[in-house]
Amino acid sequence: MSSDAVLLSPRLRTRAASRFLRRWRWALAALVVLLVVAGLGGSAQPQPPSAPPSGAVAANPPPFNAADFKPDVIYQVVIDRFFDGDPSNNDPPGDSGLYSANHTNWRAYWGGDLAGLTQQLPYIAGMGVTAIWISPVVDNVHQPLYYNGSPLPNAGYHGYWARDDYRIDPHFGTWADFDRFVQSAHQQGIKVMMDFAPNHSNPTSGGEAGKLYQDGKLVADYTNDTAGWFHHNGSVFNYDDLYSDEYQNLYDLADLAQEQPQVDAYLKGAITRFLEHGVDGIRIDAAKHMAGPTGGWLRTLNDYVQTQGPHYMVAEWFSTGITDPLHRAQLRFANNSGMALLNFTMNTAIQNVFIGRDGMQELDITQQQINEDFLWPNDQPLFIDNHDMPRFLNLSQRHDLLHEELAFVLTAQGIPIIYYGTEQYLYNNTDGGKDPFNRPMMASFNTHTPAYQLISRLAHLRHTNPALAYGSLRGLEVRHDLYIYERQFFGNKVVVAINRSDTDTASIAGLPIRLPSGRYRDVLGGMFGGGDLLVNADGSPRSFRLQPSEIAVWQFTAAEPATPELGSVGPELTHPGNQLILDGEGFGALQAGGTVELGSVAAQVERWSAHSITVRVPAVPGGLYKVRVCIAAGSCSNELLARVASGPQVPVTFTIETVPETSPADHVYLTGDAYELGGGSVDKQVALGPLFGPDKPTWFILASVPACRTLRFHFFILHADGSRTTERGPEHTFTTPCTGTGFDTVIWQK
Ligand code: NOJ
Ligand code: CA
Repeated sequence: MSSDAVLLSPRLRTRAASRFLRRWRWALAALVVLLVVAGLGGSAQPQPPSAPPSGAVAANPPPFNAADFKPDVIYQVVIDRFFDGDPSNNDPPGDSGLYSANHTNWRAYWGGDLAGLTQQLPYIAGMGVTAIWISPVVDNVHQPLYYNGSPLPNAGYHGYWARDDYRIDPHFGTWADFDRFVQSAHQQGIKVMMDFAPNHSNPTSGGEAGKLYQDGKLVADYTNDTAGWFHHNGSVFNYDDLYSDEYQNLYDLADLAQEQPQVDAYLKGAITRFLEHGVDGIRIDAAKHMAGPTGGWLRTLNDYVQTQGPHYMVAEWFSTGITDPLHRAQLRFANNSGMALLNFTMNTAIQNVFIGRDGMQELDITQQQINEDFLWPNDQPLFIDNHDMPRFLNLSQRHDLLHEELAFVLTAQGIPIIYYGTEQYLYNNTDGGKDPFNRPMMASFNTHTPAYQLISRLAHLRHTNPALAYGSLRGLEVRHDLYIYERQFFGNKVVVAINRSDTDTASIAGLPIRLPSGRYRDVLGGMFGGGDLLVNADGSPRSFRLQPSEIAVWQFTAAEPATPELGSVGPELTHPGNQLILDGEGFGALQAGGTVELGSVAAQVERWSAHSITVRVPAVPGGLYKVRVCIAAGSCSNELLARVASGPQVPVTFTIETVPETSPADHVYLTGDAYELGGGSVDKQVALGPLFGPDKPTWFILASVPACRTLRFHFFILHADGSRTTERGPEHTFTTPCTGTGFDTVIWQK
């Protein structure tokens, strides 16, 4: 039985097929282009770093929406541990001695590479995966490190120990291999999300001692840092203190000073090179260590990336969930910077529920909280486990629970990420599966495992029914061992039922949903016990039973609507002149007098099709805008939010000296006349701050502000009792640089 509901009329079935074809049409076009250029060989020549002109768009924008990963399933791969497609690069000259041929040294290279990943793309595509997150691919340290008295060499096989962000690590291949991988992925309908680690270079405690190169030329030396590329403040002493996180070394990793113009140019130049080589999305490593209280340098990086065309940006901000001391800070970062956050909050709930056996209610409550907290909840990726924590099977060998978790992650709100090998039940129990034992070599590529089949069917549903990508989530029946919920995007609906109990059958009557009457088949084809859902003539479902460990998914895909329905506006942080892409339904094949509005201002339309519109952001003042689509017939869509910065952004460090004595609970803020400076507001959620004061009475903050602009601002102290001490005298003024970074130091005006 196909996974489409039997209720689909022939017209609807055709529509689902046309959606599918729409996804693939460009792939065929790309194949033609590839065949034409195939004879040329070699890679594109790397370019020197340069700031893109405002409003510039990458020469070859991908034929799909790289800013919207919501319809995708992401597969996370540690390149070194996936597949060895080219044994000739396993112990490369100039970078040799770091390879463990028999895979006994888990902290060395094992041979996986870009050629291997490219060869296995059909296996990945067969799972319905439409995006791959690759571990950092840049050149890592060539010298071994030794830790804890062990004689075994440690290498940067994981990619987080960069020595040259402008080169591909020779163990993984060449730029030509990278290009072949990206082109091949795109041909197979798969977006590429690179992992980028701009927080640091590499360990200071051995190896190359933090040294950094640009295309093979030494540019920075941690131990002889005359040009000030690094912070030299020791290692993070308190992970719950943002100053410590940002200005000290994460472990022993040489902490880059992004506020310095040469560092800013180096990192932004490196990212430009990867964008020119076709990456679609970027996962930012260790974001908590660069974000500051309001987004800081990372907000300027996001703005810089979006100026080169729309791209999905997601940040890793490690968190223990809602009770994490920096939970509010990470929310402010996500909502301000327009970058999604890997959803550690839901990950904690998933672990509590499927390993700790807490009630399933925790999933529902956590989602409600996420919906209240995040401006863009559907963009936050969900995951069961990753390369930094034990795999689920290390903690519980229960395949039934793994399948239940997978079904949840693939159908709940947020973009699903599957850690490589989960579909093959891959794990190694040495040291409880902690890093590096959570990174075994991929051992099998069996396309018939139940997990592979489950992912494939739910990924297909995600591509064809927009309720999963864009819909709301509503708990229908939530018990200790039972979770039934509905995803809904206008007329499109998906109902998911998971009975976690090993022993008890659940009886369900009076489920509060309405569907067109008829018989709905389980999208999973009964593989996990799911049966049919019968819906009465009045739209109410008949009562039914769920067997122990049963998973059932039912769906209804609506006809193309007559009124536009907006599912995605991205990127979420943009500025006037940049491209903005709107995805949804019912836009009509042609613009035919239709408009897109930000607030009440119409945007210039560049492309218009039934499900996707591209516009240029009009010259509006900075702000959070409601965006909608209206069609000539006079009907308008729902509204979604986009944050418009007041222009291209640069990082500026504002420092204030001789601030009057404060008590430990007092905080210093800055407010000023630009949108990015809080527009004069003294609300602590809107003004810039709190500033860092490691060296009182001097305080500072690194802010993302509009380039080439004269700013007027002042500082104030917010006391613990809510009262304020404000600077006297005229406002300070500062003209921001047009490119690079800026610094302004002032004295408190008494
Ligand atoms: C987080 C990454 O996921 C982890 O694997 C890495 O070691 C650290 N950041 C430092 O880059
Ligand atoms: Ca290899």
